[in-house]
Amino acid sequence: MTRELIEQINKLKKEKHAIILAHCYQNPEIDEAADYVGDSLGLSKLAARTDAEIIIFAGVYFMAETAKILSPDKKVLLPNIKSGCNMADMIDLRLVREFKAKNPNIPLVCYVNSTAEVKAECDVCCTSANAVEVVKSLNAKKVLFAPDCYLGNWVQKNLPETEIISYPGYCPTHLRISPDDIRQAKEKYKDGIVLIHPECRPEVIEMGDFIGSTTQIFNYVKNTNYKTYIICTEKGVADRLERDYPNKQFILANQRIVCHNMKQNSLFDILNALKNEEFEVTVEPEIARRALNSINKMIQIKSSRVLLHG
Ligand code: 13P
Ligand code: SF4
Repeated sequence: MTRELIEQINKLKKEKHAIILAHCYQNPEIDEAADYVGDSLGLSKLAARTDAEIIIFAGVYFMAETAKILSPDKKVLLPNIKSGCNMADMIDLRLVREFKAKNPNIPLVCYVNSTAEVKAECDVCCTSANAVEVVKSLNAKKVLFAPDCYLGNWVQKNLPETEIISYPGYCPTHLRISPDDIRQAKEKYKDGIVLIHPECRPEVIEMGDFIGSTTQIFNYVKNTNYKTYIICTEKGVADRLERDYPNKQFILANQRIVCHNMKQNSLFDILNALKNEEFEVTVEPEIARRALNSINKMIQIKSSRVLLHG
């Protein structure tokens, strides 16, 4: 059945001159239909330079919105319209304006996990792969950071000279990882290398051997020769690592690190998106213009490789 679905998707993709971009938290079978799999930064860069007419974004709403802002002439489709992001929902236009008003004359860096309206209010965007470089590039004494206070915390740890004032948002998926999970995994797998996404809490991050975005975690595994890795990010990363590195062992810190928003998209939804050209994501032109400015500033900042394959 899966094979049949993929064949139908590939046929329609060619006919309609479409590409499929997939985030590495998606259900792994989606990779078989995807043209590119990667993290938020890598996929944004691809959305900006593709010449396809239709972009199917197998990810969450803010990612499709970012793709639309970067490629306004393309049709951008989100296969399942219910794929939101709990962190992005924690801040809206009113709240970001209040945050700025409480802390006047300080530049605002906004994590891409936010709506277009919020991006339009900030000075520059960042992803988990480049947050430290982006804040550093501002050369400012104080920086506002929204919406993820834990990513803000990670930036603060790396840039002690800058005062980071974080908005109190967070990712509920990464919050489910505790220091006890890592302690227990380490008791069982003494030589396990602990790989952590910077959306985790500071007491978890303290226990990491390597901290990075999803693709940076993949690259770390690719470039090292340890036997066992303890994975502290969404399950999709551990699933892909197990598939791609059968001679290495991957231990997910606990079985609850699943982003149910990311898992909404199925191969059926992708086929439906191609057939019926739904669900189209649009952004109001004035908001898109201002958000594009913040996203473009981020894209111009050099950072490490951010695609798994493609
Ligand atoms: P990255 O793609 O930057 O690793 O972010 C993870 C995430 O939570 C996306 O929603
Ligand atoms: Fe949002 Fe967290 Fe899911 Fe990423 S993992 S899409 S930040 S809820």
